Amino acid sequence: MENLMEKIISLSKRRGFVFQSSEIYGGFSSCYDYGPLGVELKNNIKKAWWSEMTRFHEGIVGLDASILMSPKVWEASGHLTAGFADELVECKKCHHRFKKDLLEKNKCSDCGGDLTVPKKFNLMMKTFAGPVEDEATVTYLRAETCQGIYMNFLNVMQSMRLKIPFGIAQIGKAFRNEITPKDFIFRTREFEQMEMQWFCNPKDADKLFEYWLKERINWYLKLGIKKENIRVKETPKKELAHYAKRAVDIEYKFPFGWKEIEGVHNRGDWDLSNHAKHSGQNLKYEDPSSAGASAGKYYPYIIETSAGVDRSLFTFLCESYQEVRGGRTETTESAKEIEVVLKLHKSLAPIKVAVLPLVKNKPEITKKAQDIYSTLKIHFVCQYDEVGSIGRRYRRQDEVATPYCITVDFDTLEKDDVTLRDRDTMKQERVEIKGLADYLKAKLEK
Ligand code: GAP
Repeated sequence: MENLMEKIISLSKRRGFVFQSSEIYGGFSSCYDYGPLGVELKNNIKKAWWSEMTRFHEGIVGLDASILMSPKVWEASGHLTAGFADELVECKKCHHRFKKDLLEKNKCSDCGGDLTVPKKFNLMMKTFAGPVEDEATVTYLRAETCQGIYMNFLNVMQSMRLKIPFGIAQIGKAFRNEITPKDFIFRTREFEQMEMQWFCNPKDADKLFEYWLKERINWYLKLGIKKENIRVKETPKKELAHYAKRAVDIEYKFPFGWKEIEGVHNRGDWDLSNHAKHSGQNLKYEDPSSAGASAGKYYPYIIETSAGVDRSLFTFLCESYQEVRGGRTETTESAKEIEVVLKLHKSLAPIKVAVLPLVKNKPEITKKAQDIYSTLKIHFVCQYDEVGSIGRRYRRQDEVATPYCITVDFDTLEKDDVTLRDRDTMKQERVEIKGLADYLKAKLEK
């Protein structure tokens, strides 16, 4: 679709999905705020991932570790060394900085000026823990959530009496001093990750890598991403991150090209062995079936699935945005107007049900509609809307993906039933008010 990116950015702002951070001060580069509908969508994505990992899969438990950790974590993990640095070049004329690997030519893409030789630039965000700003209080905002998982490998395993293989899942914020944040919420300096670390016997790692890659692709497909818009890209050996033995990117076809939305990594024993070395703690796993024998002790390998919440949200918006010309709603004012429908998976839709009185000047009807709204909002995120023609109100709901609209009309007063309209088929059916919540629940879970 032409200008899809602009259309999504505009819809995001207009309808309360995503706002530029600190907008009244001219914005704060690369940071975004999620509005009332954005936060519902984001929470639904996180809920879908959390249920998938900790309920539908066996052997995965959750964790919520702190963002700030001992700086020793980042020394051991390799993030403070060149391992976590981008090559940066600067334009000698306009002084704009660019990531070397994103440049297509050896000239500045803004003004055509000559560029400096590349310099390494570390991506960790530095801060101070405590009132004194000196070397002793320097610490970092985490650049990947998984380090908090490695810090708690022993705590979780022992407290939950887990045996290998098992997984630990976590959702949380991560920060990177990205040189060229761009493409709306695609690359930002503050973002959220959904990471799962599967601890396994090294001999099973290759097989498990394939398993988790397939599982993760299926998650996106289940939530409505079309097969043709998703692909995998193997990372060449020489481009692997410092911790990875193997890495595959799951990519989505964004309006600006194929880009990574999730990485599946075989991290080998990089993290646990380095943290053991730096902390002096024993982080080896002792296989209970060969207790006592040193052959039964090993550093588990880690298969990691690392998804971005913001990138997933952007992916789902791109995939579900549709325009229909010619009057989707039979009561539309102008049959030629373009109607936007966001065909999000029902489980992701921010508002599940809208309650609309047919007219707003009949107190019996508005009172009935408000009663229905009060009952339903205990079960679902609902919206009550009485402003404008019924056609316009349907369209407002279609634009933000609401799967069901309930209209309360004159027949409702006599028959105690309502019209239920389906976003995708636009079919309408009469449903009794008694049992409406259960009926909707069943439909939303389908
Ligand atoms: N723990 C491994 C790790 O962090 P990564 O490939 O660097 O791996 C994983 O990041 C995912 O995190 C990416 O696929 C992306 O979805 C998200 N992500 C990474 N950097 C991001 C950024 N600057 N802005 C938004 N999302 C980002």
